[in-house]
Amino acid sequence: MANPTYRREALEEEFGKLERSSPLVELNVEADSIITTVGRKAADWLDLQKTNTLLDIGTGLGRWAFFYAPLCKEVVGIDISEPLIRQAREAAHQAGVSNVRFYRGSFENLIESEEGADVRPNKVLCVYSFHHLTDPMKAAFLERLAQRWPQPLTLVIADLMWFVDPSRLRESWDDVFYDEGDTDFPSNAFWLQEAARPYFDRTLLVAVHPLVGLLVAQKG
Ligand SMILES: C[S@@+](CC[C@H](N)C(=O)[O-])C[C@H]1O[C@@H](n2cnc3c(N)ncnc32)[C@H](O)[C@@H]1O
Repeated sequence: MANPTYRREALEEEFGKLERSSPLVELNVEADSIITTVGRKAADWLDLQKTNTLLDIGTGLGRWAFFYAPLCKEVVGIDISEPLIRQAREAAHQAGVSNVRFYRGSFENLIESEEGADVRPNKVLCVYSFHHLTDPMKAAFLERLAQRWPQPLTLVIADLMWFVDPSRLRESWDDVFYDEGDTDFPSNAFWLQEAARPYFDRTLLVAVHPLVGLLVAQKG
């Protein structure tokens, strides 16, 4: 798409009315989809410790917050969608999970609620949420993240990213949940790695599909 435009209101509306069973947000981490594949694969690089605080950006219903909570001290899930945040809080309450918190927040404005002002993550995860940003927004986020939390940090982005020209794989677009550029703006994976390099000491790309992979970035 030549001129991608980030439309937060459209995204909030779209995600706010999703069924809980949608593969985009369903809590089942064993479901057979590319999202669960990359979300689980993130564990290899997050290397979570019981002392860690994990920030899950674009948490949705909290699928990865709940999955990774037993491995860390605390998980904070943030999302632009109030209805999803509300449902994630209810799910935490019903399941009696006490080390997860959910707040309104976004890539653009990490904590949009005073309650979350104390969050100091060691690890940051984004599963299938980063691709909604335009490339300039992604670059600005990488700088903002590194500056806001100067301590050692590992960022894992598990998402749509192009390792090959996507037009060569049109038949895979539905399988990888690409909406053809309506609200999805995946980057070239190698561009993404270059965008992270100025703010992190080490970066690594992992392809799990020609259109989906992980960017791991570490500092300190
Ligand atoms: C495909 S869902 C993935 C949800 C979750 N990570 C998972 O794997 O179950 C994408 C999520 O990104 C959120 N999102 C979209 N734009 C965002 C932004 N700018 N900041 C934070 N979250 C955003 C949406 O509200 C939605 O919950």
